[in-house]
Amino acid sequence: MSSLQLLTLLLLISTVSIPVVTCRQWCTPMPNTSDEQLQANIDFACSNGVDCTPIQPGGNCYNPNTLFDHASYVMNAYYHSHGRVEDACRFNRSGCFVVVDPSKDSCVYYT
Ligand SMILES: *[C@@H]1O[C@H](CO)[C@@H](O)[C@H](O)[C@H]1NC(C)=O
Ligand SMILES: *[C@@H]1O[C@H](CO)[C@@H](O)[C@H](O)[C@H]1NC(C)=O
Repeated sequence: MSSLQLLTLLLLISTVSIPVVTCRQWCTPMPNTSDEQLQANIDFACSNGVDCTPIQPGGNCYNPNTLFDHASYVMNAYYHSHGRVEDACRFNRSGCFVVVDPSKDSCVYYT
């Protein structure tokens, strides 16, 4: 094999082997977030365009009925509706990304 052929082959391999990585992530509260901060995050998201009916009684995300789960759902919804940029998951430094879909039963998180 000539060095030109080898070079061509190497180029070919390097172009076809670019790995396609799909990184999905969801915005959730850090596990140690205080209840006050969780509530503040809910209030913030709900007054900034997020549809919060899913976390109200009868909504798809009312259960699990914990402040953490409710905050988690609306924080991710806020992140989703704001272009999925990192800044949209800060929440006073209480936001954190997870790579496992937090959806539970009928509560489906935006991806
Ligand atoms: C939560 O934990 C992170 C590190 O894991 C820390 O930086 C942060 O200050 C903690 N927040 C609270 C409210 O304790
Ligand atoms: C941000 O966090 C600080 C300290 O943890 C707290 O005093 C403040 O009220 C929080 N602000 C908002 C908007 O949640």
